Amino acid sequence: MKLRQLREEGRKILSVLSELSELSTVSPEQVAGEVDLLILFAFREKSSGDLSWLYTALDREVTSEEEKRIREFLERRSRSEPIAAIMGEKEFYGRTFQVNHDVLIPRPETELLVELASERARSLAGPLLVVEIGVGSGCVVVSLVKELEDLEGVSFWGSDISGKALKVAKENAAELCCEERVGWHQGDLYKAFEGVVEDFKSLIVVANPPYIARSEALPRDIEEYEPPEALFGGEKGIEIIEEIIEGISDFRRGVGGFLLIEIGYTQGSSTAEICRQRGLDKGFKIHQDLAGLDRVVEVELPGK
Ligand SMILES: C[S@@+](CC[C@H](N)C(=O)[O-])C[C@H]1O[C@@H](n2cnc3c(N)ncnc32)[C@H](O)[C@@H]1O
Repeated sequence: MKLRQLREEGRKILSVLSELSELSTVSPEQVAGEVDLLILFAFREKSSGDLSWLYTALDREVTSEEEKRIREFLERRSRSEPIAAIMGEKEFYGRTFQVNHDVLIPRPETELLVELASERARSLAGPLLVVEIGVGSGCVVVSLVKELEDLEGVSFWGSDISGKALKVAKENAAELCCEERVGWHQGDLYKAFEGVVEDFKSLIVVANPPYIARSEALPRDIEEYEPPEALFGGEKGIEIIEEIIEGISDFRRGVGGFLLIEIGYTQGSSTAEICRQRGLDKGFKIHQDLAGLDRVVEVELPGK
């Protein structure tokens, strides 16, 4: 069979994706793009992920081994498994992170968290402590280590309630040569950390916590393939965000800096109210993502 023929068949196989769920509509153009991506991935040694390679290879005969591999990828995708999970990797902030079903697949909108935290880090006096709650694949904390490599006197702590996620984060950090730069902790929110925050002059706490309401209907590729502890924040969705805001005062022991939390795009005003009730409304900002949606809340934490 020629690769061109298998590619056509792949488009038919994946066309089911547009019909599977009203919540995740996949256009025919996206389907075609996904088929090409999966073929490129099946030939990654030869193709280096380059689309122009595919165009020159369309008339080649595929071996039975190659056909089997491509069909397996198409089959998995037709059951809604996300492309990143099939490929086992996802780009985030210009770097590649390994992913599996134990972690949330890094989302492009979360890059805003890294951008803001890097900027704020450069405005604070050292020694600075950067803490991430809920590292998942490690994409945020590892990106921060890499982005702030030139800044002296910065320490990093990262936590997750899931031991399996922490393992993936450490592996990604090791792959990017910075596993030793982060103090890794397993546990619930601030309880995971044992270190002494008062040893630092400034502090940044970042989190992309689970913030979806239990009752919310999700597209099948998310619902079935991403870990529930990375998705659901409680009955209303905002509960873990509230706990993070609630706990910051005890955790920081008067050390000043910033708290940056990714939120769901409808949660801006509730988060503002939670901060106002706790006297954290001074220096409170909501930042929008590239789609213009509320995405990150910033709280300035006054120093002693
Ligand atoms: C939405 S994911 C974010 C992962 C990663 N930071 C990212 O942005 O891709 C939330 C992460 O928080 C972790 N988590 C959930 N509840 C937690 C808790 N109470 N304490 C610490 N981590 C928690 C989950 O296991 C998950 O890895």
